[in-house]
Amino acid sequence: MSSSTPAASQDISIPPSVITLRRTAQLEALYTIIRDKTTSRGDFLFYSDRIIRLLVEEGLNHLPVVKKTIQTPTGATYEGLGFEGKICGVSILRAGEAMEAGLREVCRSVRIGKILIQRDEETTQPKLFYSKLPPDISKRYVLLLDPMLATGGSAMKAVEVIMEHGVPEERIIFINLISSPEGLQTFCKKYPALRVITGWIDDGLNEKAYIIPGLGDFGERRYCS
Ligand code: URA
Repeated sequence: MSSSTPAASQDISIPPSVITLRRTAQLEALYTIIRDKTTSRGDFLFYSDRIIRLLVEEGLNHLPVVKKTIQTPTGATYEGLGFEGKICGVSILRAGEAMEAGLREVCRSVRIGKILIQRDEETTQPKLFYSKLPPDISKRYVLLLDPMLATGGSAMKAVEVIMEHGVPEERIIFINLISSPEGLQTFCKKYPALRVITGWIDDGLNEKAYIIPGLGDFGERRYCS
């Protein structure tokens, strides 16, 4: 059985480039724990890491493969598949850093870049403050990591920066734990060829741009007790 569901099959109108994790009872139980305001920091770390691992695994399902024939120790020939192309992760600081370990667990010695985007107080627009990307990023598939897709402003700025470094849109996969429907619409309208892997699509945003029901501030819950 597939581990993911095209989000378009859910009750909301979501762009076809969005893929959600399959809504199993286990997944719902994991989300219930991390959304619960009484969950301890230790449990938040443990269970959000479990979801991140599922998301990263799903992200890897969307990378290209080529036919590969190998010999097994029994002397038999096995016609299988091999990954094609190199990958790297790019985390949007600071919350995205929480997803790096999950990526390293499944991709040994993966290169990881970082981008810091903050609101420009004068223009109120997202502004790039810092970026450090692998020098050969233009030749890689990029897994963009940020746990919460709220308005989409930071993620769109991060994609702009990555594309300026020569990575085409279709080679970027954005992975997040929770998305707002409006953030997804805005993001996917701007980057229709970019795939988004999200664990859950919530109801919407409140007046402070928090996702509802959401889980509050991901960075606070992850890094502060
Ligand atoms: N970032 C968060 O951490 N939480 C939200 O609800 C929205 C953005």
